[in-house]
Amino acid sequence: MKGMTKVVFPVAGMGTRFLPATKASPKEMLPVVDKPLMQYAVEEAVAAGMTDLIFITGRTKRAIEDHFDKAYELEAELEASGKFALLEIVRNTVPDNVNCIYIRQSAVLGLGHAVLCAAPVVGDEAFAVMLADDLLDNPGGDPVLKQMVDVYNYHRCSVLGTMNVPREETQAYGIVSTEEGQSGAVQRMTGIVEKPAPEKAPTTQAVVGRYILTQRIFYHLRNLEPGAGGELQLTDAIASLLKEEAVLAHQYDGVRYDCGSKLGYLKATVEFGLRHPEVADEFADYLAARSLVSKSEKK
Ligand code: UTP
Repeated sequence: MKGMTKVVFPVAGMGTRFLPATKASPKEMLPVVDKPLMQYAVEEAVAAGMTDLIFITGRTKRAIEDHFDKAYELEAELEASGKFALLEIVRNTVPDNVNCIYIRQSAVLGLGHAVLCAAPVVGDEAFAVMLADDLLDNPGGDPVLKQMVDVYNYHRCSVLGTMNVPREETQAYGIVSTEEGQSGAVQRMTGIVEKPAPEKAPTTQAVVGRYILTQRIFYHLRNLEPGAGGELQLTDAIASLLKEEAVLAHQYDGVRYDCGSKLGYLKATVEFGLRHPEVADEFADYLAARSLVSKSEKK
């Protein structure tokens, strides 16, 4: 049986929460320590067996294409100056057996619309969708997308990555309901609603930026009525999909950093900084000294 090989990265959004940084550069290229968010997501995808990376891009996103392409001048320069370790890093942003495919979404018409742009390339297969601004970390264990591919290979149906959130935060997520009486990390879904108010949310199980979808999602996306601003919501298409096919919620093992928000991004930077071989010790010392400064002294 051929494994799943295709992953869609919708990266055409405007990243308004990170302006002005995202005025002319993609939010997915923000670095956590020294690696862009996009590269963390690509590494997670490759670890899950993906070999066809489909980027849904837009204006101001060209840096993503350049990052995964050959950089002739830089490589020649590093080679000439004998900086071979750096040369390796620059050459290995993506493995040789991986194809990068770029599709432009010319108008920002929603996540559902972005996923639909990938239909001609995905064809008749199940595929993954990853939002690179959700940085999912599972040190010492399987990366989250790999966990989800394993669930897909067993059950052969769509799988959404989920986590529990505090009730007061439901408004920031798609929230799923699952069948009564189930226990364990993988549960069959009965519904999904986009950004419900805390008092209206059916549960506190929230979807994060990892999806495995069957090709049937395209039918539901094509038949969706556009919502506000002409946007097509992926959540609405999934709500429609689960009326005809099983869709599973998988509470993954790992920690999520919402790097589309300033606070999540700062937390990821601290955690990854504390384990980066080059700076970990000095950074830990700095933070320890810094924590002696009480909150009241904060500027
Ligand atoms: P978000 O809702 O997080 O929007 O999109 P955003 O533009 O990236 O960020 P903020 O909220 O304005 O700060 C969720 C994902 O869907 C992609 C985005 O790139 C992001 O990965 N997206 C969204 C598209 O690719 N196309 C769209 O039309 C909308």
